Amino acid sequence: MKKIECIVRTVSLEPLIGALEQLDIAGLNITQTMGYGHQKGASEAHVYRGVEYTVKLREKFKVELVVNDEQVEDVVNTIVSVTRTKQVGDGKIFIYPIEDAIRIRTGEKGNAAV
Ligand SMILES: Nc1ncnc2c1ncn2[C@@H]1O[C@H](COP(=O)(O)OP(=O)(O)OP(=O)(O)O)[C@@H](O)[C@H]1O
Ligand SMILES: [Mg+2]
Repeated sequence: MKKIECIVRTVSLEPLIGALEQLDIAGLNITQTMGYGHQKGASEAHVYRGVEYTVKLREKFKVELVVNDEQVEDVVNTIVSVTRTKQVGDGKIFIYPIEDAIRIRTGEKGNAAV
C-alpha cells in the first residue's frame, strides 16, 4: 500500500477529482493548504490595480489517496496529465509507504481495508 499525496492548483481540483473517479479508487481526502516551492512563493506575483504585490504563501489543495501498489502508476499518470500546465506552481506528488490500514466497520486489515 502507498499513500499518494499531491499538492495541486486550486483550479485543478475539480478536473482531478473527475479523472480520479474514472479509476477504481476506494477513497480520497482533500485539504486546503498553503505553502511554497522553489520560487518561495515569489514569482507568481499578482497585479492589483496596476500595483504588483507578492504573497509568500500560495493557496493549493492537497489530495491524499491510499491505494494498492499496482494502482500507483495509474494514479500518478492521471494526476500529472490533468494538472500539468508546464508553468511554475503546477504542484508536487509525494509517495509514502503505508504500513497498515484498518477498516473500522469490518475490522479488515491491509489491502482489504483500503
Ligand atoms: N519540498 C516540498 N515539501 C513540501 N511541500 C512542498 C515542497 N515543494 C512544494 N511543496 C508544496 O507544493 C506547492 C506547489 O509547489 P510548486 O509546484 O511551486 O513546486 P516547485 O518545486 O517550486 O516547482 P515549480 O518550479 O514547477 O514551481 C507549494 O506551494 C507547497 O505547498
Ligand atoms: Mg514553484
